[in-house]
Amino acid sequence: MLPTLLEIEELARRAGEILRAGYEQKHQLEYKGVIDLVTEVDHQSEAFLLAEIQRRFPGSSILAEESGSLDGDKDHLWYVDPLDGTVNYAHGIPIFCVSIGYARRGVTTLGVVYDPLRDEVFSAERGRGAWLNGRRLHVSQAEELDHSLLVTGFPYDAWHSPRDNMEYYARFARLSQGVRRLGSAALDLCYLAAGRFDGYWELTLKPWDVAAAGLIAEEAGALVTDIDGKADYISAPQSILAAPAALHQKMLAVLQK
Ligand code: IPD
Ligand code: CA
Ligand code: CA
Repeated sequence: MLPTLLEIEELARRAGEILRAGYEQKHQLEYKGVIDLVTEVDHQSEAFLLAEIQRRFPGSSILAEESGSLDGDKDHLWYVDPLDGTVNYAHGIPIFCVSIGYARRGVTTLGVVYDPLRDEVFSAERGRGAWLNGRRLHVSQAEELDHSLLVTGFPYDAWHSPRDNMEYYARFARLSQGVRRLGSAALDLCYLAAGRFDGYWELTLKPWDVAAAGLIAEEAGALVTDIDGKADYISAPQSILAAPAALHQKMLAVLQK
């Protein structure tokens, strides 16, 4: 049986309940890298989602942030980020979400991102559109950088990697209305889909960060590519650039300079 968008929305809401219940509690922090942390709530949300996906859709493949790759039928692949915005969450900053994507035969067809504090469900079905709590989403009509509000993020290995995004950040900060850093790649893309941001780029994300929200942005009318303008924004070496088409062209020129 193929999943429906409604079923995935229900899973995202229930995982979001787990995040909301644990918010502003004292957390057990583990460090996966120098600045890359995980809380017990990431694990609880992921355990819930994996158990439900395996129970309802047995045999599926799942790519989940804390458990890695669970092998199954490659024609049915799930992308699970149980808590996107973990650093915010651990600091009590109210910007985080659950992200669930589903790909059929290698093409992402369903995506849901849920922000439990604002009760905002962003969702999309390929070819049918994107919605926020049932209301149709559209990207902004921005064409020029100087009036555009942009958003980006920085990878956890930014202390050591030459792909630290600092140079691009400096370029766009001098050309746009401003560049925000919210700390949740999935919400960055959903806010772009809702027209709250005009453009977004980032380097070195993982498939579970971008699969669902990338589809939501595409279905809201964004052009979503890597920073070289290629269609694949999921595979390593990963990068992403999302904006309405006219602005995308201008951002691409800045990234390629
Ligand atoms: C992170 C967030 C952040 C992005 C990082 C991601 P996490 O995901 O999406 O905005 O800049 O690169 O890894 O660790 O909070 O799930
Ligand atoms: Ca993430
Ligand atoms: Ca995460």
